[in-house]
Amino acid sequence: MSAGWAEVDAYIADRLIGDDTALDEALARNAAQHLPSIDVSAVQGKLLHILARSIGAWRILEVGTLGGYSTIWLARALPGHGALVTLEIDPHHAEVARANLDAAGVGDKVEIRVGAAVETLSHMEAEGEGPFDLVFIDADKPNNVAYLKAALALARPGGLIVVDNVVREGRVTDASSADEAIIGTRALFDAVAAEPRLSATAIQTVGTKGWDGFLIAVVDAE
Ligand code: SAH
Ligand code: DHB
Ligand code: MG
Repeated sequence: MSAGWAEVDAYIADRLIGDDTALDEALARNAAQHLPSIDVSAVQGKLLHILARSIGAWRILEVGTLGGYSTIWLARALPGHGALVTLEIDPHHAEVARANLDAAGVGDKVEIRVGAAVETLSHMEAEGEGPFDLVFIDADKPNNVAYLKAALALARPGGLIVVDNVVREGRVTDASSADEAIIGTRALFDAVAAEPRLSATAIQTVGTKGWDGFLIAVVDAE
């Protein structure tokens, strides 16, 4: 990673985000509980927050909770009657996330569902849950196509689907990669490209998390 990327992230966060005790405490609790530090960065979290606010989202679905750092950013975008469902396979991660969300004052808006997300999502589809205004996909990358299909079924027309980690230091362009995460991400791009109901782009990002990117898609009206 270029040293300059992290410096600029720190500058942006200093000018435009400022001190945020709840988020600092969430990262501290994650570290104390030995969660991997693979949360989105502060500037990325605020981007998710702004995307949610800009479409007036009041129902948000997240796939991949970890300690709830991105969840806090998204939950803070919700109006009083808003709700967020976040899916996590690891009960310990879910427990840490619950503590972080409650401490951040957004716990009452967030439901954490523990289990393999592919199964939770198919259950949600069968139950006719949703529609969601925004779906943030940030879990195991080999399942990204399955998560995309579920997100399409559960999102409203005009809703947003955002996927994290779609660039991975540029390795996404390696068609012969044996890395399951890269294979899954390339399959995601193919699935989005083949989906007439989505208008999409991907934006590369650099910063404290290195060189990566978000795929951002809007669900077209039928
Ligand atoms: N969105 C978080 C980071 C998520 S890291 C943030 O930015 O703060 C990815 C998370 O997905 C991990 O907690 C991992 O346990 C979870 N995960 C991995 N495979 C999963 C699966 N099959 N179903 C649900 N969650 C899964
Ligand atoms: C990994 C997963 C993430 O969601 C992320 O943002 C960074 C890294 C990982 O599994 O290595
Ligand atoms: Mg991620």
